[in-house]
Amino acid sequence: MKFYLDTANIDEIREAKNWGILDGVTTNPSLVAKERKAFIPLIEEICDLVPEGDISAEVTATDFDGIVKEAHELAKLRKNIVVKVPLIKEGIKAVKVLSSEGIRINTTLCFSAVQALLAAKVGASYISPFVGRLDEAASDGMRLVRNIREIYDKSQYKTEILVAALRHPMHVLDAALAGAEVVTMPFGLLDKLFQHPMTDIGLKAFLKDWASVKRTE
Ligand code: E4P
Repeated sequence: MKFYLDTANIDEIREAKNWGILDGVTTNPSLVAKERKAFIPLIEEICDLVPEGDISAEVTATDFDGIVKEAHELAKLRKNIVVKVPLIKEGIKAVKVLSSEGIRINTTLCFSAVQALLAAKVGASYISPFVGRLDEAASDGMRLVRNIREIYDKSQYKTEILVAALRHPMHVLDAALAGAEVVTMPFGLLDKLFQHPMTDIGLKAFLKDWASVKRTE
């Protein structure tokens, strides 16, 4: 399963890259706005920081022509760009055209398996179910992921499941168990995956006992 960082923050991406587990980056308009930087140069910088990984950058138009225009502008920036398009009717229409041109699309703001079905039918590269937002709305976000997995396997769709809006390490575990190809998560959650108190306690005990050992005669 691939680990993507859900951020537009250069320092977070640089740090996570050093951990050896970063496979890509997803951004969205809110994450970009937080950085208070010009959009295009920021996306280019992120693409150059992780040249071997997919970098999702989202369109903000909501009409067919505008989405297609923005997608063309984004796609030509770098070869590792994936264009994010929201799962609205105008977006689905645009994905049909864009995917036929070979532009890779991440269909985002997915909250139902039927939306995921539409995305696969028009050739999306990724589907992004927002599990944490569903959980927060008293729905079962991970059940959606399992349903999408079942539908895609039955129809042999190639669209990859990119589980989004993660809130805690159990979302990562459950996404892996559900057979998702990718999870995308905030920096703080990625960092949390390295932490277990029992490992720290065990290591401390080992080192305490080791202090009395002579390495050689
Ligand atoms: C994916 O890139 C989504 O935009 C992101 O995971 C949404 O997460 P949020 O619900 O924390 O905004």
